[in-house]
Amino acid sequence: MASFPSGRGGGLVSPTAAAVVIAVAALLWAAQAREEPCYPRLFSFGDSLTDTGNFPFIFGNDSREPALRPPYGETFFHRATGRFSNGRLVIDFIADALGLPFVRPYWSGRTAGDFACGANFAVGGATALRPDFFRARGVPMADIVHLDMEMKWFRDLLNLLCPGDLAGCTGMMNQSLFLVGEIGGNDYNLPLLSGVSITKIRSFTPSVIAKISSTITELIGLGAKTLVVPGNLPIGCVPNYLMIFNSDNKEDYEPETGCLRWMNEFSQYHNRLLINELENLRKFHPDVAIIYADYYGAAMEIFLSPEQFGIEDPLVACCGGGGPYGVSASAACGYGEYKVCDNPKKYASWDGFHPSEAAYKAIAAGLLRGPYTHPPIANANNSCPQITELGSSVEYKDLNDL
Ligand SMILES: *[C@@H]1O[C@H](CO)[C@@H](O)[C@H](O)[C@H]1NC(C)=O
Ligand SMILES: *[C@@H]1O[C@H](CO)[C@@H](O)[C@H](O)[C@H]1NC(C)=O
Ligand SMILES: *[C@@H]1O[C@H](CO)[C@@H](O)[C@H](O)[C@H]1NC(C)=O
Repeated sequence: MASFPSGRGGGLVSPTAAAVVIAVAALLWAAQAREEPCYPRLFSFGDSLTDTGNFPFIFGNDSREPALRPPYGETFFHRATGRFSNGRLVIDFIADALGLPFVRPYWSGRTAGDFACGANFAVGGATALRPDFFRARGVPMADIVHLDMEMKWFRDLLNLLCPGDLAGCTGMMNQSLFLVGEIGGNDYNLPLLSGVSITKIRSFTPSVIAKISSTITELIGLGAKTLVVPGNLPIGCVPNYLMIFNSDNKEDYEPETGCLRWMNEFSQYHNRLLINELENLRKFHPDVAIIYADYYGAAMEIFLSPEQFGIEDPLVACCGGGGPYGVSASAACGYGEYKVCDNPKKYASWDGFHPSEAAYKAIAAGLLRGPYTHPPIANANNSCPQITELGSSVEYKDLNDL
């Protein structure tokens, strides 16, 4: 149903003949180069950082969620696609760099052919843990999507692709790239926003990591050979948190970035546990590439030296309210008396919770071309030239003209 323009095709609008010739040549070249993508399929799981359009299928396109309406999507797609940003997400840049089309939201497809290049199971608001986990600890939680649900949809899809014989999917599984996350952010965000203390939230982390780990183990059991597992972003740099947890104590802020120290320490705590768990998993599965994607480190580059990415104030939201961080309690992007910035390319935060396309592009560049995947994603499949050699819309630290 939904069909998205390709990342590289999106800019071919020049009417001049010369431009058309160049464009056609480029397309032919790209088609040739793309003949054999090193990963024929990309499957992904996660929350709003990765959802490419499942949300309206689950919660209804008339839901009050502002991300289903403009100005969401205004920058690249020029319409609201269900992505919780102004444009492309990390997963879109990864798909593009691999020579794949944008990953189809699972709920927008029906037939096996719809999923010829993979599927995205991520849904905005999703948690790693089930709602029961939180309720049992006195934390209110709506019936939202969680990782076990996304895995169930994945198994349903395998039954569609390889009816009656999951073993028949082995050849497909071992050539696919799996992006497992980011997931777990909402296991912390939702309690934080309902006033649960960080000390209590810290006690959830081992369970969050265990859920991510068991999901990876299940995917490996089904034949996955290459998995990329993102960590948490520096949540202390999120404009809404900077507003909500505003403090008079200078010590609460990192001097180099202005981000909230205790929140970033919490993100790093989650990431340390995740890194340790991935190291354990590698011991059990030496034949599987389990790649840690350091979203925190890649994003921190933006907060430490925003000018390298053409970003002016990385702690201010482009779309939202009017406070010092571009967010307010009375308005939100797409809701109430909100305002939108003129040039989203100069902002790292789109709506005060979600990164802008500019930030996602910088993070993706740090993963694909920079040092932020461990082991390096480019080495995961040595016969995979796309990631390192092909021209792509993602260049590390040279993002201004894009
Ligand atoms: C590596 O890439 C080649 C094509 O470039 C592909 O045939 C092969 O299946 C890939 N291997 C894995 C493990 O993904
Ligand atoms: C919402 O979904 C319905 C039913 O799937 C569809 O007919 C309608 O066109 C959709 N509206 C928008 C704005 O996408
Ligand atoms: C993938 O699985 C298929 C079917 O079991 C097998 O023939 C092929 O050699 C495997 N390829 C890799 C790269 O593991």
